[in-house]
Amino acid sequence: MSQGLKGIKTIRDFELAGKTVFLRLDLNVPLDKKTNKITDETRIKAALPTINYALEKGAKLIVASHLGRPKSKDDKQYSMEPVAKRLGELLDVEVVLMDEPDSEGVKHFLSAPMKKQIICLENLRFDERETENKIELAQQWASYTDIYINDAFGASHRAHASIHAFPSVMKQKGIGLLIEKEIKMLDGLFESPKKPYIAVLGGAKVSDKIPVIEKLMDICDGFVIGGAMAYTFLKAMDIPVGKSLVEADKVKYAKEMIQRVEARNKTILLPVDHVTTLSFGDTENIKVTSNAEIPEDRMALDIGPQTIRNFRACLEKASTIFWNGPMGVFEVPAFAKGSFAVAEALANNPGLKIVGGGDSAAAAEASGFADKMTHISTGGGASLEYLQGERLPGLEILRPIKQSEVM
Ligand code: 3PG
Repeated sequence: MSQGLKGIKTIRDFELAGKTVFLRLDLNVPLDKKTNKITDETRIKAALPTINYALEKGAKLIVASHLGRPKSKDDKQYSMEPVAKRLGELLDVEVVLMDEPDSEGVKHFLSAPMKKQIICLENLRFDERETENKIELAQQWASYTDIYINDAFGASHRAHASIHAFPSVMKQKGIGLLIEKEIKMLDGLFESPKKPYIAVLGGAKVSDKIPVIEKLMDICDGFVIGGAMAYTFLKAMDIPVGKSLVEADKVKYAKEMIQRVEARNKTILLPVDHVTTLSFGDTENIKVTSNAEIPEDRMALDIGPQTIRNFRACLEKASTIFWNGPMGVFEVPAFAKGSFAVAEALANNPGLKIVGGGDSAAAAEASGFADKMTHISTGGGASLEYLQGERLPGLEILRPIKQSEVM
């Protein structure tokens, strides 16, 4: 069971003036493959409050993040350069990108007074010791750091050197304002949420969602299920799904889940019509079905109009909504209506609306309704792991060690 933020210090607990603060952020933003331009800067903007706080308090600031999954430091398309540039523009400070984030170069820079400047380390994953969680790399950073702050919620499920080994060798350590907000929001989904509480689940696989379904089963009043995972549920109800994606080994689980939800007198809404086509991404042969059955030669790539009406009616009555996973292939406009309609339904609902990061965050963003959500998590994998009750290495290492663990 999660312990929330118990025992963990926040950046507000430290005296920052004149101190070197190492801020681990998750600035892992998507870049356009051709132009190398940032295509979604949500994570950069989410990092600004903590950076600004540290600067206002007079800290000497080093920010660091991973970007993508480079194989070596020669993978130049993963350079932090565009991110550092954008950070500088948004903060109106000079962001000095350190090519070689070894201790000497940074120490040299820190020895001079810093005014309207921050240091940004090059992609942490350019050094393989980062993903190997190597203590020697952590010690290098620690040699010039006074206070370590983790504000990389999206990477806190990774036991990597900048997330785990580094704070393990630091005395002064804590979280930033983003992680604090993320955890409080996600905890709010389990600690006396207002009823009715509806979970909207989508995305490709039932298997990815099983642990979170299990956690939500006793708390939620109902499930609204769309996206490809819905076809596994329809299959479990013996409804023909044509060529749609089905996880054959999860059909039994889906059948039992429907029975368990119904036995608890809770709602489970599944698609009753679909936007179908002949092959994945084919926009030439689109047809909307008149009921839940999908013809043998077709695959469904979005929920249909009647399903949208049903989902909307259910979501209108909810006081708490958790949304994780798109309703269809929203990246293709012809299959985006379902996900955008869910985003709109959340936007129009005055209650608590939490979007669980990853693809659903991207769908909320693309729908134009992102600013109407109570909170959109910046963590995909991290938010799911947290919600399903796993302990995130990046948080656990910041808790004080219990005496019983030392002896
Ligand atoms: C994410 O995008 O979910 C985080 O930045 C973690 O990235 P990773 O999955 O490459 O570790």
